[in-house]
Amino acid sequence: MRLSEFILVNMEAILQEWEDFARNIQPSHRSMGVVELRDHAKEILEDISAELASPDYKRNLDSDGNTPAQIHADTRVLSGFTIDQLLSEFRALRASVLGLWSRREKTATWFEVEDMSRFNEAIDQALAESVARYTEAQGQSQDIFLGIIGHDLRTPLSAINLGATYLMRLDDADSKLIQLGSRMFTSAVRMQEIIDNLLDFVRSRSGLGLPIHPSDVDLAAVSEHIADEFRISNPGTTIRTEVHGDARGRWDGSRIGQVYQNLIGNAIQYGENTAVSVVTSATDGEVVLSVHNDGPPIPAAMQKKLFDPMQRGISGEVHSSNRKNLGLGLYIVREIVMAHKGVIEVSSTEKTGTTFTVRLPKLTA
Ligand SMILES: Nc1ncnc2c1ncn2[C@@H]1O[C@H](COP(=O)(O)OP(=O)(O)OP(=O)(O)O)[C@@H](O)[C@H]1O
Ligand SMILES: [Mg+2]
Repeated sequence: MRLSEFILVNMEAILQEWEDFARNIQPSHRSMGVVELRDHAKEILEDISAELASPDYKRNLDSDGNTPAQIHADTRVLSGFTIDQLLSEFRALRASVLGLWSRREKTATWFEVEDMSRFNEAIDQALAESVARYTEAQGQSQDIFLGIIGHDLRTPLSAINLGATYLMRLDDADSKLIQLGSRMFTSAVRMQEIIDNLLDFVRSRSGLGLPIHPSDVDLAAVSEHIADEFRISNPGTTIRTEVHGDARGRWDGSRIGQVYQNLIGNAIQYGENTAVSVVTSATDGEVVLSVHNDGPPIPAAMQKKLFDPMQRGISGEVHSSNRKNLGLGLYIVREIVMAHKGVIEVSSTEKTGTTFTVRLPKLTA
């Protein structure tokens, strides 16, 4: 008997063997019924059997174009299966078919060998589809989770912000209370930045890129405003700003504000109390923003991947202070710059210090 037919004739026995296995590995907090447990194994096997029987077989897809292996992965993500458990289910499916077959078909023929290798290929294909879908679905649910946390943290944070501002501005309070308010305010601003970065990261990873809404803005005002905010929260650091030429044009002002904010924030954090200088130079066609600090340079190897997400200085070696950071700032800066059709580069040496340079073309309406 050919393997395609064998699978159909012995479906019940194969499923039973597989079910016994799958029941053993199911997440302990779930108790699934037999129907749910066998869910798509039968359809996966029917699909494979039809494919073995005829090379021109058209895959059995649901109305949304999903294969049984993809649908299976979706349900496994929802049931809390780990990727290892999903993989072992496929191993079990393979073993129960080939085990039963070799026990019943005693005579080895050329067809048998051929069928077995085609069956293995088909299982591998189903496995690859399932794993790809599982990873995608899990990534999406993580993004949704991050998005919700980030979003929901904003409201309590703004209450802390308000309280801190109130303390900072108390006229007759003792200086310790005002200092406490100021420290709370700086921390709340930092938390807000981390949350904003996280939300932008999730948004950009969804494949849509970062949305920008250009309007008429003056980058001289934007840079001055952001630098002033940092001067308040970092009174010990000198922040120089310079503007050359007419820096008015069409960009997304709050997004470019984020660029200044991340670059200046990094310069203060990693420049080890050296002065920070922020230069905005405009010509007819473009504006060049540069943010400079001295202090330990960024190692050459690290400069190449600086703009990738989750890249932080080598802990303990370069900047031990950045363990609390997510390593998303420069990734988001680059996304914003790219959305404006601009470019960003970095130069960092012991002698000349670290300078991030952003070139933004003046967008036309
Ligand atoms: N101006 C700078 N001087 C020296 N090193 C820098 C500078 N800017 C960035 N770096 C290095 O590049 C790494 C990546 O920076 P990035 O802003 O992307 O992430 P982060 O600051 O670690 O975290 P986040 O910005 O998400 O809070 C930093 O951890 C730091 O090691
Ligand atoms: Mg940063």
